[in-house]
Amino acid sequence: MTSKPIYLKPNVVFEPLIDRWYAWSHLVSPATAAMNITCRHLKIMESFLLSPETHAGAVMNPKMRGGPFMDLPTGRVAEIAQLKQQTLQHQNEMIGFAKAVKELDDMLAAEAKGFQLEELYAKIPPVLQGYVELFYDRNNHPNFRFFESLLYNSPYYKKSAQSMAFWITNNDHRPFVLSTPRLDEPGILHLEMAFDNMAIDELAKMKRVPQPIEYIRRLMTIPGSQEELFNSFFTEDQPPVYKKYTGDKIRMRYFGHACILVETKDLSILVDPLISYYGYDSGIQHFSDIDLPDVIDYVLITHNHQDHILFETLLPLRHKIRNIIVPRTNSGRLEDPDVKMMFDNIGFRNVTAIGEMEVLSYFNATIMGIPFTGEHSDLNILTKSCYLVRIGEFNLLFLADSRILEPILYQHIHRQVGDVDVIFIGMECDGAPLSWLYGPLITKKMSREQDRSRRLSGSDCTKGLSIVEIFKPREVYVYAMGQEPWVEFISSIKYTDESNPIVESNQLVKICESRDITAQRLYGEKEILYETKKTARLLTSPGNY
Ligand SMILES: [Fe+2]
Repeated sequence: MTSKPIYLKPNVVFEPLIDRWYAWSHLVSPATAAMNITCRHLKIMESFLLSPETHAGAVMNPKMRGGPFMDLPTGRVAEIAQLKQQTLQHQNEMIGFAKAVKELDDMLAAEAKGFQLEELYAKIPPVLQGYVELFYDRNNHPNFRFFESLLYNSPYYKKSAQSMAFWITNNDHRPFVLSTPRLDEPGILHLEMAFDNMAIDELAKMKRVPQPIEYIRRLMTIPGSQEELFNSFFTEDQPPVYKKYTGDKIRMRYFGHACILVETKDLSILVDPLISYYGYDSGIQHFSDIDLPDVIDYVLITHNHQDHILFETLLPLRHKIRNIIVPRTNSGRLEDPDVKMMFDNIGFRNVTAIGEMEVLSYFNATIMGIPFTGEHSDLNILTKSCYLVRIGEFNLLFLADSRILEPILYQHIHRQVGDVDVIFIGMECDGAPLSWLYGPLITKKMSREQDRSRRLSGSDCTKGLSIVEIFKPREVYVYAMGQEPWVEFISSIKYTDESNPIVESNQLVKICESRDITAQRLYGEKEILYETKKTARLLTSPGNY
């Protein structure tokens, strides 16, 4: 006899892990994973083992927020020593790979002097042989690219390192996840399962469609000792029913950070998904999983940063996503892994890579990839795209974290697409230095001054205003500020009123308002309805795509 169908509780966290570290895209793509395991995880673990007190002190200091310090009590040294040992053992090949990348960089710097490269193939470290092509840029600087698809079918893509932690959360607090691994805790169910395991989808579906506990227990192969904990994740209480939008307008809902849901009665588009949990008192009004439709037609990913691609949100949504649109790249460069390939390898279907000014059509809507500049520390990273979403005659421009380096670029774009109605722009204009995110990929030491000058910064007021003046929107929203409490674990941001991004974005909002443009810095939640047909406004430029 099977038991009564039950629902998954809304505040069960799906935490994807790799080697017990919070999984983000650079830990899936094989080459960046090797570098991060070796030059981030192992380094932080070694540092903690040397002086756990230093880490404990640093995480208490707001100035050190987001730094390479573990937010763990000093008493957990033995567990970290064990995790380090396991990493050295299980990731032996990846550590060898990272070492070989450094050797290859050194060899090219020493020997590739503008003459033909063929002879140097014999000097490529053996573990990389057959996985790289050597080349020069036009000015004789040597470099190499990976055959990334081959790496996914090699010992350097280790699915066995992937696992999932499930637990019930009652608040938004979590340590900064790039610096602190997830150790065993009471109340946390840790299961060795790869991200492409469809049991994750079946579990997520139970948020809305009840099943008997035996059904999901069998699919997830829950050990007897964990059954009681697993059972506590479920409830007989039916969740609130999602009401599909059936009106004639365009409904825009802000879910926090850079996550925006655009809905019409025919279509749903979710930009940079980052969905909070619910079922506990957070003190801030916010949309969450319960406000998402049963089917999401398009997910748009703007760029390959950890706060814009969240597996924790995407894996439980996978079963309801029809299409994922990602920025196109196939450069094979270490710093620019292919995001489509990454999604394809973790069980997502219908992943489409979009190029600059390329258009996808659906019903009466089009999605266009728009150039995204800056915010990548001047590295040659192509996996980034802004989006212009046109529904009927209505245009929404999502600029994510792009920093407007050269407004003339956007004048060229404007010539093609015309004015827009609404702009969403990120203004995290005091971004972290290059080493914060890309440090593990850099094999040649750079000076502190160089590092600090190469930041992951979004637009300031002047740069934001230049875009407003070009596209003449009726509404401007500052978003992607990493401020909501449920984003802090991944953004490590906490602003005060004096913080530059707050001052600059206040200034932009004020100037826009003085020009009769509706403007606001978004926080928590926001809902707006738009007409699909414009009545009160003449286009200054017809647009021709
Ligand atoms: Fe970013």
